[in-house]
Amino acid sequence: MAENDSQERRGSYIAKVHSNRRIGSGFYKLLLEFTDSGSEAFGGCRPGQFGQLDLSGAALPPSGAIREDLQDSANRGVLLRRPFSFSDVTFKGIETFVEILYSAVGPSTLRMTTVKSGDSMSVIGPLGKGFEIPEGKKMALLVVGGMGAGPLEHLAKVLTEDYPTMQVFAFAGAKTSEALPFERRLDEISSGLGFSLAEFAEFGIESYVATDDGSAGYEGLVTDCFSEWLGKAEVKAEEAIIYCCGPEAMLSKMAEIAAERKIDCQVSMERLMACGIGVCQSCVVECRGEGPGETVYKLCCEDGPVFDSKEVVFGV
Ligand SMILES: Cc1cc2nc3c(=O)[nH]c(=O)nc-3n(C[C@H](O)[C@H](O)[C@H](O)COP(=O)(O)OP(=O)(O)OC[C@H]3O[C@@H](n4cnc5c(N)ncnc54)[C@H](O)[C@@H]3O)c2cc1C
Ligand code: FES
Repeated sequence: MAENDSQERRGSYIAKVHSNRRIGSGFYKLLLEFTDSGSEAFGGCRPGQFGQLDLSGAALPPSGAIREDLQDSANRGVLLRRPFSFSDVTFKGIETFVEILYSAVGPSTLRMTTVKSGDSMSVIGPLGKGFEIPEGKKMALLVVGGMGAGPLEHLAKVLTEDYPTMQVFAFAGAKTSEALPFERRLDEISSGLGFSLAEFAEFGIESYVATDDGSAGYEGLVTDCFSEWLGKAEVKAEEAIIYCCGPEAMLSKMAEIAAERKIDCQVSMERLMACGIGVCQSCVVECRGEGPGETVYKLCCEDGPVFDSKEVVFGV
């Protein structure tokens, strides 16, 4: 489905919770089921697009199950919806299954951990602009930082299903092996390229893992791991494209690497979002304007969250 179609179909839909399970040390996967018009709207959404979830009606976990550093914020009311992108979307006609990879970091995501099969919740979406796959590209390089894995897992699936001749490699980094949001036993990961991450291996995509402390894979930043790989690999700049999602410092570094090598690069940006639909102006991203040194403010929720890395003026 073209992005225009999906924007026309955006609306407020009720999703049924299919499952909500813990993966690894502190990560969860929530699987939502949409039917009828919700199925049509979300069934065609592009990797990188997102939904605004209303978690105000969900219960908090018991206080003993809440991390010490989240005890205070846990009890804050959840007045606003929160944005979440999707790690998988499966369209089955009258039903669409949408998976969200998340971790508990505040009042909404703590409440998200308690929803269970059969519950329902309101979701506004699909919102924003997702990753684009320009004509002529033969190699896609996916670079993940921590919780940025979700939309790139979805992109991995779309690339392999719709572009079977595309060569795809994935690079994923986090501070420690515990902070990598994947299901496989991470102590088995070697420092070389291999099929170590099941989430990418299932699509035949080789992956590299990097951790700052060396507890899994390459010891160091994923951006350094990627640069070293790029230095040795045979990559034709005009045929390659880099897709990134993660902390802004990582995206900024990736934008630099891409510019040096003249490789197209798309980054998924994050901002605090109140409305998610272009009304409140809370989510601005500083971008380059037409003239030299000129900058303009774009909206992460409407113009993004995915931007061409050349466009963004990074603040870090
Ligand atoms: C387009 C988009 C897609 C997202 N997809 C996912 C996803 O797939 N999985 C997931 O776990 N999270 C995702 N997020 C982040 C998620 O929406 C926030 O972490 C959300 O605020 C959590 O709500 P909360 O009430 O649990 O915690 P909050 O109290 O809202 O946030 C917890 C802490 O994180 C900070 N914070 C929240 N959002 C941001 C932000 N955008 N930039 C910088 N700091 C922030 C807050 O200031 C606060 O200190 C996404 C965000 C965006 C903009
Ligand atoms: S979140 Fe309201 S304008 Fe972007």
